[in-house]
Amino acid sequence: MVNFNNFAAILSLKTMLIQKNWPLIDFNTFGFDITSSEFISIKGIDQIIELYRAKQLKRTDIGILGGGSNITFTKNFNGLILKNEIFGKTIIQEASEDAIVEFGSGESWHGAVLHALSLNLGGIENLSLIPGTVGASPIQNIGAYGVELKDVFHSLSAFHLPSGEIHHFDAKDCKFGYRDSVFKREKRGEYFIISVQLKLSKNAEIKTQYGDIQSTLDGWGIANPTIHDISKAVIHIRESKLPNPAEIGNCGSFFKNPVVPSDIIPALQTQHPDIKTFPAATGLTKVPAGWLIEKAGWKGFRRGDVGVHAKQALVLVNYGNGNGQEIIDLAHEIQADVLSKFGIALEMEVNAW
Ligand code: EPU
Repeated sequence: MVNFNNFAAILSLKTMLIQKNWPLIDFNTFGFDITSSEFISIKGIDQIIELYRAKQLKRTDIGILGGGSNITFTKNFNGLILKNEIFGKTIIQEASEDAIVEFGSGESWHGAVLHALSLNLGGIENLSLIPGTVGASPIQNIGAYGVELKDVFHSLSAFHLPSGEIHHFDAKDCKFGYRDSVFKREKRGEYFIISVQLKLSKNAEIKTQYGDIQSTLDGWGIANPTIHDISKAVIHIRESKLPNPAEIGNCGSFFKNPVVPSDIIPALQTQHPDIKTFPAATGLTKVPAGWLIEKAGWKGFRRGDVGVHAKQALVLVNYGNGNGQEIIDLAHEIQADVLSKFGIALEMEVNAW
């Protein structure tokens, strides 16, 4: 827990405080014990506007933090962290078949899934238990078990830091790709996402095609699953494979699954008959990074307090006293080894700050 007594508030704007030397251990799921030189909780749009007027948003050393579940801090953060705490869950439009639900960007993603389930609205049950906030979900186009955020995305509102304007984005504007969007590319660092609107279904298609879901449901004897059953199955699968950040620090998948030209696959198949591949766009094939890392011998590897998770090689972990630089060094070694063994480059999914 944060000890609030140790940290002085330095700058008092009209309604809020910028804190100095703020501990971030509770705000990054790797659990690194680092600080931010300045830190402020953003609870509403008024506060962003006030910061803008105080010229704080013109700074080049701003970091926007949601759940801290996709960031490796390699050192203390020298700048101003804006911690997103904008909450809210409202049905803004309802039709016979679906409803548009608006979520404050600081809401936890899994909380949003549970809220949708409580309303019997489907579409995001396959995305149960993904750590992080609603605001980060379109940036990453989060995905799991056969569903991506883009499948249910309706629109979002975001504060444009350079101009002080509020802009609205529909799915086309977001240019979603695999764990990718305009917010990771040409608009990187320009926006503070305020709210996200999702179009959820009253009669959602049940998606069990991702193998583990079907086998889990079969094991439970559920032949006609509901969205609630799908959520339970996904939670069960995730809990059995992925380390809980509250117990072992991690950021989920550390690398993206590489998408490679399909013509390199036959040679790999000759060398490794057990290689797993998935079709991607025309002429391209997705190769699971977890398989490549395991095959290269890294699964369960540990050095000091950092390592590769023993049940999912795509997840790098902090056993307690590791630091971000050790994680990045390990990631680079894995990338070099996989490249030399398979000729495939792994791209980091997690951001390094
Ligand atoms: N595999 C191995 N060894 C491993 C891990 C995986 O051989 O150590 C093989 C599995 O046997 C399977 C294939 O790789 O054939 C895919 O594994 P898995 O179903 O566990 O999924 P993943 O590709 O490793 C992706 C997402 C996850 C998401 C799952 C389920 C990425 C980068 N990761 O992982 O997302 O939960 O699929 O849909 O696309 C995240 O982004 O943080 C994340 C956890």
